[in-house]
Amino acid sequence: MRQDHLISASQLSRADIEAVLDRAAEIDGDPAAWGDTHDRAVLGLCFFEPSTRTKMSFDTAIKRLGGTTTDMGSVDSSSVKKGESLADTVRVVEGYADALVLRHPSEGAAKLASEFVDVPVINAGDGAGQHPSQTLLDLYTIRENVGLDDLSIGIMGDLKYGRTVHSLAEALTNFDVRQHFISPESLQLPRGVRFDLHQSGAQVREHTELDGVLPDLDVLYVTRIQRERFPDETEYEKVAGEYQIDTETLNAAKDDLAVMHPLPRVDEIDPAVDATDHATYFEQAHNGVPVRMALLDSLLEADQ
Ligand code: NCD
Repeated sequence: MRQDHLISASQLSRADIEAVLDRAAEIDGDPAAWGDTHDRAVLGLCFFEPSTRTKMSFDTAIKRLGGTTTDMGSVDSSSVKKGESLADTVRVVEGYADALVLRHPSEGAAKLASEFVDVPVINAGDGAGQHPSQTLLDLYTIRENVGLDDLSIGIMGDLKYGRTVHSLAEALTNFDVRQHFISPESLQLPRGVRFDLHQSGAQVREHTELDGVLPDLDVLYVTRIQRERFPDETEYEKVAGEYQIDTETLNAAKDDLAVMHPLPRVDEIDPAVDATDHATYFEQAHNGVPVRMALLDSLLEADQ
């Protein structure tokens, strides 16, 4: 990895990504062999927003490397409630931990935090910004299922506020991938991400309907409408419930289409899809552990 912190997917080269994915595959093959690689390493968990998968899989990952965690807990039970700044919180926690995992509602929060501490900071989601460790597990899942080159992927739902989408789209520019973005007009990719994709010469097309493009796809990456990011509830109401898929929708798909979702889902994927061979989202969530073990291993190693 070229840098000590993981803030944005745009800092990841193809070589960086492949190194983490290869190590994750090695770990996946024999997890027990890694049990004392980072004995007594402490990972600081600072989650200013709700999390299930990201927090728990980082927690499991460091423990499977022989380390442990120290957890700020919820915002309500921490000194944030007393008005402590983010800069002060992370400067304190760096004294307790060898690396920090930070999730925060403000875009740019992880970058800001990384300017105040010497230990590696992993951005586990900064508002509608980025979520690069999710991207690594997404790429791992894609590589395991359909391979990462000569790939057609459809990314559907909330492309405006979905941070997993922003990171994934940028990382995919390192590979030979055709990216199809499917969303209502009001939730299309933000200007900054669009600019980055354009700059890197990505093969990108935008659609408002899934139908026309579905038969060509190898992966369909579905996302939740990010209700908590809408400044106006009535705007959310206008798009809620659009872009749902069920088993009937998938009749038009290739037999080996992998349906992915960073989870949590609300109503975007009908539960009946879970029983089909397309459903890849639980496997994707489980891949969070070996991939985050590989990521932590490389960041802790680089920091020594
Ligand atoms: C995502 C997130 O927090 O951005 N969840 C996750 O980390 N797997 C997606 C979401 O909340 O919709």
